[in-house]
Amino acid sequence: MNYVEEIKKLKKEKNAVILAHCYQNVEVDSVADYVGDSLYLSQMAEKTDADIIIFAGVYFMAQTAKILNPSKKVILPNLKAGCEMADMINLKQLREFKSKNPQVPTVCYINSTAEVKSECDICCTSSNAVKIVASLNAPKVLFLPDKNLGRWVEQQLGNVEVIRYDGYCPIHNNLSLSEIKETKSKYPNALVLAHPECQEEFLNLADFVGSTTGILNYVKNSRDKEFIIATEDGVVERLKRDYPDKSFYRIKDKPAICQSMKLNTLEDIYNALKNETPEIEVDKEISQKALKCINRMLEVSK
Ligand code: 13P
Ligand code: SF4
Repeated sequence: MNYVEEIKKLKKEKNAVILAHCYQNVEVDSVADYVGDSLYLSQMAEKTDADIIIFAGVYFMAQTAKILNPSKKVILPNLKAGCEMADMINLKQLREFKSKNPQVPTVCYINSTAEVKSECDICCTSSNAVKIVASLNAPKVLFLPDKNLGRWVEQQLGNVEVIRYDGYCPIHNNLSLSEIKETKSKYPNALVLAHPECQEEFLNLADFVGSTTGILNYVKNSRDKEFIIATEDGVVERLKRDYPDKSFYRIKDKPAICQSMKLNTLEDIYNALKNETPEIEVDKEISQKALKCINRMLEVSK
């Protein structure tokens, strides 16, 4: 079966839109209406007037889309696509973390569950975390679940104490200092572009730190020709496809792969559209509370 053609036909028939994160398998781009980072995809989910949103990404992203646009049918093609970092904190752990630091505003990374968002003050993504924390005008904030992003925000702002929860993304956190040093010595002219989910020592060696779209845009606007890409492999694949005259290197030449992100195949997307499952549902009360946390972020990000 030609999945691309069939998906395009079904999309029209059913008035559906496909949102795809930049870590998806590249072939998903041929059927996607919007490809981008988690902030951009949330904004697209909020404003779409399609009846069905197919979210080619991971669970928390589809859940966020449902919270932002509850009257739509939101479908995650492969229900097993979770985020290991988002699963590192549950409501009980959040409450414990908050109870140790009472009266301190709580910022949650969008990579978290709806339950966790429902008890946080404001949400952020990797592209707006610094702006969001600054907008609180607070001397101290709690930040969860990503300790690396929290530390990076603290360093960027300089005047806010960011108390971090001990979560991390295994894919980014595993990129080691010795590996980046080795890669840099192999490609001395290459600029290092890194996602803020990487560890501190690693980010200190980067020429640019930004979200997945931030990294793609950096390359688009740069006259440089060689780049070491320190994030998930989907970004490297897209860069190689879009800029054949430039060179992109992985850390130690090995791909950093988020297996969950790769679960949504074209076949899954086709089945999801055809059967309109698996649908994402969020408890109404949790959804309303989480929406406040997400909307506050979207207001600041405008
Ligand atoms: P972005 O916000 O940069 O898309 O990152 C999401 C993510 O899960 C990175 O691992
Ligand atoms: Fe979660 Fe890391 Fe995968 Fe992003 S790359 S979805 S943070 S596990």
